[in-house]
Amino acid sequence: MFLRVPGMVGTTMGIAMIITTTLALADVTLPDEVVVENLRIEKSLSGSPGDAAQGRKTFADRSLGNCLACHLNSDLSDELFHGNVGPSLDGVATRWKPEQLRTIVVNAKKVFTERTIMPGFYSLDVGEDVREDLIGKTILTAQQVEDVVAYLNTLE
Ligand code: HEC
Repeated sequence: MFLRVPGMVGTTMGIAMIITTTLALADVTLPDEVVVENLRIEKSLSGSPGDAAQGRKTFADRSLGNCLACHLNSDLSDELFHGNVGPSLDGVATRWKPEQLRTIVVNAKKVFTERTIMPGFYSLDVGEDVREDLIGKTILTAQQVEDVVAYLNTLE
């Protein structure tokens, strides 16, 4: 007979979650482990391929990628505001290889200059005077970066 001990369900779920998280993180490259060679990051950060449809959403999401704040992208012409601080991303897949696009999204400073205003979306090098609760965090997760990169690869 199964005895219903208060708190047991929570504990079991907690343990299950720890196990799942550990498994999911097994192949993830942490921000301080990222290797950039010749402007390229060869390996998927999450260990899995990106999902371009999901990446399109992350790209447009104002609280995630918010890429439209700075970039024009005709593929998202249904979205109202497109900034022009950065170059248009139309045809960007013809200008950069997937491994280079990954580097640009992870840490644009590695491809452009230290002074680029494009944020590093998977970098802990976020400058000075950062809000304390944001220290040690990246703007996007490893999988979100892979999704955005998969999406950028469709912009031909
Ligand atoms: C605050 C503004 C800003 C935001 C937000 C931003 N970028 Fe950029 N991005 C730039 C600038 C500026 C450049 C050009 C490099 C430079 O001059 O520093 C650039 C360059 C690029 C390039 C190279 C384009 C080319 O044709 O050479 C890609 C790709 C890119 N950004 C993707 C993204 C993606 C994807 C996002 C969202 C996850 C994003 N950017 C968010 C400012 C921004």
